Amino acid sequence: MFFIVLVYDKRGRFHTLTPTSLKLGNAKGPKIKSVVKTNAKFSLADSGFDSSVETQMNEKIGSEDELLKTRENERWRERRKKGEKFKGRKNKSNKRKRKKERRKWMEKYLKEQDKNDLEESNLNVNYSEQPLHWKAKLEGLEQRLPGAIIIGSKKCGTRALLKQLSLHSRILTAGREIHFFDRHYNRGLEWYRKQMPLSKPGEITMEKTPGYFITREAPERIYSMMKKFSLETKFIVIVRDPVDRVISDYAQGLAKNEKTKERRKSLEERIFLSSNEKIVDENSYLIRIGLYAKHLKKWLKFFALSQIHFVSGEELINKPWKELEAVQKFLNISVEITKENFWFNKTKKFYCVREKGEAEPNCLGETKGRKHPKIDQETIKVMRNFYSPYNKKFYKMVHRDFGWPEF
Ligand code: A3P
Repeated sequence: MFFIVLVYDKRGRFHTLTPTSLKLGNAKGPKIKSVVKTNAKFSLADSGFDSSVETQMNEKIGSEDELLKTRENERWRERRKKGEKFKGRKNKSNKRKRKKERRKWMEKYLKEQDKNDLEESNLNVNYSEQPLHWKAKLEGLEQRLPGAIIIGSKKCGTRALLKQLSLHSRILTAGREIHFFDRHYNRGLEWYRKQMPLSKPGEITMEKTPGYFITREAPERIYSMMKKFSLETKFIVIVRDPVDRVISDYAQGLAKNEKTKERRKSLEERIFLSSNEKIVDENSYLIRIGLYAKHLKKWLKFFALSQIHFVSGEELINKPWKELEAVQKFLNISVEITKENFWFNKTKKFYCVREKGEAEPNCLGETKGRKHPKIDQETIKVMRNFYSPYNKKFYKMVHRDFGWPEF
């Protein structure tokens, strides 16, 4: 037996899914928000869907037969508008046959759509231009400006933190980095809003763009957005030993160079003014990002320290649930994400997240938790010496000692 399932996702988009696409969908495709209609009585025993889908389906299946019809009619009208004609038989007297043929044609069309949906989700297409389905509107779903932003820092665990937070029932996260306040500010706030996931009133929309923390203009830009819309946006900064951060960032650069076959500069070439003397270049890209105290000073000109929460990147690796508890408290939401949501992947040596009741844990891809290159001990020592006073200043500013090694 073969099934097609109509679902709509967090953004209110429709998807037609088959057993194969749903399996793929678990990893890359849409996350099922609600099952609108199956094209046959839904029986998992012989459907070919895997068991993790079963739980989602059973919870969310609705009895909304008419929605399938609505959607079919919408598609039908769409194609008619485009001038595409239904090529069925034109015998008006045989209405039942015509209806059957039309349904067959529709099923074929939905299968095609299914393929397109999958391709699109893999390409991370922006769907914000698509009109919102009436059911989504009824539920109060809207794209809202963020209630919280992870503003930094690059290579400190920003993706892991956002993914872990997205487990919370009141948090909706944007899938990719938006880069509005650093790169795309000229596109306007309406563009920014349209990059956000759909949320209901009372839910918290979140995005992460680590570039904001080091962008001089970002605090003022965010401040003016908050003032204009009377928002009380909160900020989260995840920080990690700046020396580890440099190495992680450098490792990412190496991996990119491998793809483009560009010449690999040594770390020393990238961070020292002159490699003979080993004097750290404070303005080099790799070094600058880890000067947390300097960046924070610019944010404190616009925001109170109480509006910014700091997460330890090291703790997020070792005991993520502890950091997550503090973040949930900071966001003023119930502590739903607990130790039970984490599963340690012995191969990756990182925790992966698991939604309660779900069998399969969800780990970050291979671009996170890369193998780091071996770095000369002397270079590490010079970097530690360089960062030491900045780290101490930062601990004082945020009233937390992160305990990063000194020499
Ligand atoms: P490495 O790849 O150098 O180990 P970001 O998402 O900000 O780019 O940060 C990437 C870093 O997140 C990774 O750096 C890794 O150390 C860290 N990280 C924290 N928790 C993780 C997790 N659960 N899975 C994978 N990486 C995690």
